[in-house]
Amino acid sequence: MQKLVINGGKKLGGEIVLQGAKNAALPIIAASVLCGEEIILHNCPRISDTYSAMRILTYLGCRAGFEDKNTAVIKAENVSADGISDELMREMRSSIFFLGAVLGRTGRCRITLPGGCDLGPRPIDMHLSALRKMGVTIREEFGALNCTAENGLHGAKIPLSFPSVGTTENIMLAAVLAEGTTVIHNAAREPEIIDLASFLTACGAKINGAGSGKITINGVKSLYGCEYTVMPDRIACATYLACAAAAGGELVVSDCRPSDMESILTVFEQMGCILHTTGEKIYFSAGRPLKAVTPIRTMVYPGFPTDAQAVIMAALCKAKGTSVFAENIFENRYKHVDGLRRMGADILVEGKVAVIEGVNRLYGAKTDAPDLRGGAGLVAAALSAEGTCEISNIHYIDRGYEEIEKVLSSVGADIVRI
Ligand code: EPU
Repeated sequence: MQKLVINGGKKLGGEIVLQGAKNAALPIIAASVLCGEEIILHNCPRISDTYSAMRILTYLGCRAGFEDKNTAVIKAENVSADGISDELMREMRSSIFFLGAVLGRTGRCRITLPGGCDLGPRPIDMHLSALRKMGVTIREEFGALNCTAENGLHGAKIPLSFPSVGTTENIMLAAVLAEGTTVIHNAAREPEIIDLASFLTACGAKINGAGSGKITINGVKSLYGCEYTVMPDRIACATYLACAAAAGGELVVSDCRPSDMESILTVFEQMGCILHTTGEKIYFSAGRPLKAVTPIRTMVYPGFPTDAQAVIMAALCKAKGTSVFAENIFENRYKHVDGLRRMGADILVEGKVAVIEGVNRLYGAKTDAPDLRGGAGLVAAALSAEGTCEISNIHYIDRGYEEIEKVLSSVGADIVRI
């Protein structure tokens, strides 16, 4: 089993070229199923979740793989299997995107429940009820969901009770080739939704309003191939900035999009860090000492993202004063707190609230990554600890970060994978 070994206390300095966004690449890879022609995806991150998505494509009879460093080539000429194996479905939460995409292409799909990080209950009721509105019949058979649209999918008016990111994306995938018009009300507004819409539009889809609460999709007969560049990963960017805030030093992050990150960058400013942004770069200087911040409530975009909660908390462990988080998106997203406490952090969790009393020092400790972002938080904290930290279960971290140890050691961190 692999682990990361980190000797903390080294300041960071240098430039990081940011990876492409996991949460944009995954629905886009699934969307390739809708196009019979070749798709060339640039800036596609080489992370274990994108490899899982490509394994699903191969299972479905498509051709998919990386041809160059971050360029993936996908051809879904034939979508042969009528479902996805339980083993592949359980590899990640994003396997659920293939439901909308395969239904959109073939009118039928058999799946089991998706896997993914354990962040509390992650039902797919909204996905299924939206698909039913679009003419899909869903039968539960021996733990599997057998989904069919006998007469093809049709457009529908779909109001969401909560602006779920995955549900919005799955509806878009199912709707682009459906008969007629689909309107999503209370749609998620995350930048990754816009990226999926831009990709589908580049393939010939007709989508309006992505990035607002109302998305309209007019079904077309077919989609063609395209060449597309995946957007930058705003959460990986937040992670590397949190590492620099925790460890100290100065960092330039290039190929990022600061305009997508306002709620996160504001928090770094409150901590006392200095930031200069241009269109695609962030110049970052860690404040010393770091200061506690006003309460952070995780929310849907443009609010503070739940995915950045763990890494920012890690940076705040040594900030002067008391910081408070309210986690409003997932029920069980404080599992990294145990590892942070092992390093000496003073954190109290009460339901959805976490209270962090800044301490002067963190110490080396052995910890386990509890999930993807929690694991990244432990890495950030370890960089600011005195002594050696060992982080196990790093397969979670590999789901979303491209060679995190290489990126961090290139800017001066003492971190190795063994
Ligand atoms: N929800 C339901 N029913 C549904 C769908 C969602 O109750 O049918 C609930 C969820 O249980 C959760 C809330 O709605 O409490 C938000 O879920 P959402 O559907 O918005 O999240 P998601 O699509 O499952 C995506 C990201 C997550 C990110 C969330 C919130 C991808 C592949 N995943 O998940 O990313 O935390 O949006 O922004 O885009 C990560 O990258 O580490 C990660 C977990």
